[in-house]
Amino acid sequence: MLPAISFQLPAWIVPRVTLPAPIPPLEAGGWKLEATMKYYLWTVGCQMNKADSEKLAAGFDRLGMKAVDRAERADLVVINTCSVRQHAEDRAYSKLGRVRDLKKERPTLKVAVMGCMVGLKTGELEKRFPYVDAFARPQQFGPVMALVEEPAEDMGGEFWPTTYAVPEGPTAFVPVVHGCNKFCTYCIVPYRRGREKSRPMDEIVREVGYLTVHGVREVTLLGQTVEAYGHDLAEQPDLGDLMRELSALERLERIRFLTSYPKDMTHRILKTIAELPKVMECFSLPVQAGSDAVLQSMRRGYTIGEYLEKIAEVRALMPNAGITTDIIVGYPGETEADFEATCDVLERLRFDKVHVAAYSPRPGTIAHRTMADDVPQAVKAERLHRVEEIEERISREINASYVGTTQEVLIEGLKHEQPFGRTRTGRLVHVDAPARIGSLVDVRIEHAGPFSLRGSFVDALVLA
Ligand code: SAH
Ligand code: SF4
Ligand code: F3S
Repeated sequence: MLPAISFQLPAWIVPRVTLPAPIPPLEAGGWKLEATMKYYLWTVGCQMNKADSEKLAAGFDRLGMKAVDRAERADLVVINTCSVRQHAEDRAYSKLGRVRDLKKERPTLKVAVMGCMVGLKTGELEKRFPYVDAFARPQQFGPVMALVEEPAEDMGGEFWPTTYAVPEGPTAFVPVVHGCNKFCTYCIVPYRRGREKSRPMDEIVREVGYLTVHGVREVTLLGQTVEAYGHDLAEQPDLGDLMRELSALERLERIRFLTSYPKDMTHRILKTIAELPKVMECFSLPVQAGSDAVLQSMRRGYTIGEYLEKIAEVRALMPNAGITTDIIVGYPGETEADFEATCDVLERLRFDKVHVAAYSPRPGTIAHRTMADDVPQAVKAERLHRVEEIEERISREINASYVGTTQEVLIEGLKHEQPFGRTRTGRLVHVDAPARIGSLVDVRIEHAGPFSLRGSFVDALVLA
């Protein structure tokens, strides 16, 4: 990753965007570092966690540190963790085990653990991992930065608000609302990421303006419940208002958003999404379960009937919308009939993609405190497999229905020298022709595979 640089305002940028304050010169801080200090950053979890890692990397790069792709070559190892399921935690534990061996060989190695495994009380973690030099909660970069930098007094010890990652391609993720207020019974996120907190609209517009100057054409606005955006701000803008502001950025071609919460997705927001040409018809709308009994026990706040109505509303406004969902199987008390109801919903709604996971009890959550994890492991595995089968079949059928259509594709990169990108509905497309990364092209879909589409240009002139 390149260090962030200051830049001139190009003539084509829309005048009402104020760009970030120029980055202070290196002398402004009291750096502890050799300019060549190398860091290795390992990340699991959701896009929010990945966005945190990018921000941290931008901070390191600005200090002149260098990213390396193996812990063996690093002076500092940062492990950015996720707690959503036991499996994610186990991956971090195994990584930590390897880092412990490295630290034995090389005691000068610094190790930091950040992200959702770090809760309010770090005592237990400190006991279990005495070789870790710093623990940092999500978004609290301070303890990690303190290993490499002394905060500059003239910046109040805080340079994060104006530190943006230099993007590596034409797409970027931008958190707009942090945390979650929903407290679904199974979920650890609100305990680790705290309550909903929206970023001010002008700050987001500035950041996206900066990204477009560095070649970004598509941004994905992130929130655990992204439609909660603005509820806590003085003027109470909604997600649609933010999208309208961002649409005015001339160089920005596309706006995506993740993750939607059925109850927060108002008609007003949906209408704005449908109206704004830059906003993609691409929804991530977790249903979690198909039975009202399970939904109620999960405290999701909607019935399956209400969820179906929401999807009907989306499809009435945007008939071709791509919609993905999340499912949990084996939630406490889930009967065979409850599970069948989930399968029925999948058959009925025909999602573009289903992210399915077996229930994993999370200490500290309501479900863990009050419900037995009573669905046997083998039953969970079987249900998981059945959902996967339904999803694969439907996804294949949806892919086949694209053949013969023309789709707008943003070229994101090259794989085996061949351009690839996504449709406005979020489908992956490989293109059988040379194309510039970052260009928006019309592609005629000729083949459909199980996971992606393939096609070539409708109009050869796009290459000119
Ligand atoms: N904010 C989003 C996603 C949160 S976590 C939402 O409201 O849906 C991502 C997904 O992980 C969830 O949608 C859920 O399907 C899954 N998940 C969360 N906690 C889980 C648990 N304890 N066991 C299994 N899956 C879980
Ligand atoms: Fe977790 Fe529910 Fe919040 Fe999603 S909405 S992050 S599942 S508590
Ligand atoms: Fe995991 Fe935290 Fe994201 S628990 S899913 S990294 S919000």
